[in-house]
Amino acid sequence: MVYGRNLFKLIIIKIMNVSTKKEAIILSSDHNQFNENKLSTEYIIIVQNLEKSFNSVKAVDGISLKVRKGELFSLLGPNGAGKSTTIRMLTTVLKPSNGDARIAEYSLIKEKDKIKPFIGVCPQENVVFEALTAEDNVEFVGRMHGMNTDDIKERTKILLEKMNIAGRKKSAKSFSGGMKRRLNIVMSLINQPQILFLDEPSAGLDPQARRLVWDFIKDLKKTGMTIILTTHDMIEADVLSDHIAIMDHGKIIAFGTVNELKSNSNNGNILEFSFSSRKELIQAKNRLEQITDVKNITEMENNKLIISFTGGVKTLKNEILGKIESFKTLHFREDSLEDIFLKLTGRGLRD
Ligand SMILES: Nc1ncnc2c1ncn2[C@@H]1O[C@H](COP(=O)(O)OP(=O)(O)OP(=O)(O)O)[C@@H](O)[C@H]1O
Ligand SMILES: [Mg+2]
Repeated sequence: MVYGRNLFKLIIIKIMNVSTKKEAIILSSDHNQFNENKLSTEYIIIVQNLEKSFNSVKAVDGISLKVRKGELFSLLGPNGAGKSTTIRMLTTVLKPSNGDARIAEYSLIKEKDKIKPFIGVCPQENVVFEALTAEDNVEFVGRMHGMNTDDIKERTKILLEKMNIAGRKKSAKSFSGGMKRRLNIVMSLINQPQILFLDEPSAGLDPQARRLVWDFIKDLKKTGMTIILTTHDMIEADVLSDHIAIMDHGKIIAFGTVNELKSNSNNGNILEFSFSSRKELIQAKNRLEQITDVKNITEMENNKLIISFTGGVKTLKNEILGKIESFKTLHFREDSLEDIFLKLTGRGLRD
């Protein structure tokens, strides 16, 4: 096996090529206080007014955020929100158009080479050498980090076992997409980074593999590692995160813990109606608008209507169901991160 310069260049080029309105609701009290003294003890990342434009597209539009040492911080947002661009800037792959960040006490703009040893990165698109085995892929990255052979071998074995891909002698070419994803996560960890960036870690995984990755991430957190992940999966964000920043159109539109986000959304209860025709939907919508306890009505595709209301079962029984005569299906649920996003943007995370 050749650990040559060309492979190194290729991996860098591959990583480089990974492509790609409202007031923010900031719920954690200290989000915007950039207190230098706190940086070394409490925060490992402080981002200030970070921007990235691609010609006329402002992919990241002046975001500021802080990440505590040892926490799991999620960037949650729909396609094109600017999550990957943010990650690529924070991992020194892309140069910001404006702003700066302090990562492990170093400035992204002035000291980016000092940041590299502290971080591990799993990009959104898998970067796996198909001609190599899982072990060789991980060992290759270890050598790029300048680790010694014994350390590389020991750590590779442990990590591959944890991810359930140990002992495979075949080249990665024969791996499923899910296996490649898990291998890529392992590759990002070989240098024992203090800060791990995972761009959509569970994208494309089946439910069982997704659960395995979640458990793996939870275990990593227990070691004190700081983890920043991106996702458009609200359940993933809910299950794993200490803090969540909801991104849309390059901006952070809400920030807080899961509970803070939910308890401040003031949506109350959520009902999801579907109707057989648009005529029925409009009729129902007109009636719902007259009910004081109905706080928010959002029209979705496929003749669906999502409403939030207060007053619980009483309102549901006496007010809502009394007025809506015909509908195809009805789902009742508690407020979720999806509802918060919907309320903030008028769109679903997957629209
Ligand atoms: N290299 C690039 N050149 C031009 N435009 C880009 C480039 N990278 C990203 N963009 C644009 O910037 C915006 C944000 O893209 P980005 O990939 O950061 O979003 P994302 O939140 O990661 O989305 P997804 O969930 O699809 O991964 C999009 O409009 C995208 O088309
Ligand atoms: Mg992305």
